[in-house]
Amino acid sequence: MTRLLLGVTLERICKAVLLLCLLHFVIIMILYFDVYAQHLDFFSRFNARNTSRVHPFSNSSRPNSTAPSYGPAGAEPPSPSAKPNTNRSVTEKPLQPCQEMPSGLVGRLLIEFSSPMSMERVQRENPDVSLGGKYTPPDCLPRQKVAYGIYIINQYGEDTFNRAKLLNVGFLEALKDDEEYDCFIFSDVDLIPMDDRNLYRCYEQPRHFAVGMDKFGFRLPYAGYFGGVSGLSKSQFLKINGFPNEYWGWGGEDDDIFNRISLNGMKVSRPDIRIGRYRMIKHERDKHNEPNPQRFTKIQNTKMTMKRDGISSLQYRLVEVSRQPMYTNITVEIGRPPPRLARG
Ligand code: BGC
Repeated sequence: MTRLLLGVTLERICKAVLLLCLLHFVIIMILYFDVYAQHLDFFSRFNARNTSRVHPFSNSSRPNSTAPSYGPAGAEPPSPSAKPNTNRSVTEKPLQPCQEMPSGLVGRLLIEFSSPMSMERVQRENPDVSLGGKYTPPDCLPRQKVAYGIYIINQYGEDTFNRAKLLNVGFLEALKDDEEYDCFIFSDVDLIPMDDRNLYRCYEQPRHFAVGMDKFGFRLPYAGYFGGVSGLSKSQFLKINGFPNEYWGWGGEDDDIFNRISLNGMKVSRPDIRIGRYRMIKHERDKHNEPNPQRFTKIQNTKMTMKRDGISSLQYRLVEVSRQPMYTNITVEIGRPPPRLARG
């Protein structure tokens, strides 16, 4: 009798385990289907037709990077500075402007962090990227000169973090590299784009790219949100006097940038919420980046502060510029908060 009972129980457990496995399989299939369905035209109204492999910079936007652009409708005119590849022989036809929408986009990308990605592999898979993280399309003339390089701006020392000031440094240091850059994409290092149709280029209005982050349930947390990843043309950036230098610690600086844009008569443009999706690499809150208690007061005063505080008043000391195969690492000393703020 006891044996029979044991047998029945075991059988039930086996069935339950089997059912769980089946459920797991079905969920995995749905997830994969969601990603790969993008390849089929009739499942996606945004889908690109050509699914062949393209240069990763053109179809796979990267964090902290300034990727080349291909100027969709409404793009600023081609920069006169954008020069064709000078290695081409004189008998070859002149390069044509790059396509408005790069061919070979794949749409939704499967982003997961379970397997490590080595720098060697990134290098191997991006053979056209040259020292310092520079890239130029070999076969067409870019319509804008997006800072065709990846610059990582690293704050030297142990003082309170200042994100917006570091972004200002990135703007100036990239221009030192190439004064013809006319579009700048500013990205947090921990954000990975999940869709290659979210093109890293500049638009008629300042662009907010990171509209749907996983940490906010893939929704915009509030209408005036401008955090994560944004892009401004050189003239848009200069019109707002760049970003504020006086936000020490976490929060508020992106709201201040949003205010600067509105106060200067511009509007933020954004991609579709289904395209502007990002995954954040999980990490502890960084040291020296405590929430800034002054931020609520400061964002009320942008109108008064933006003229004196910005790219025009930026001061820093360059500590090191190190050219790596896939990026340029720039370490800078940017000072510390005034004593009143340092006390919190
Ligand atoms: C902060 C922003 C931050 C946003 C989302 C706001 O309260 O001021 O800096 O990006 O919250 O976390």
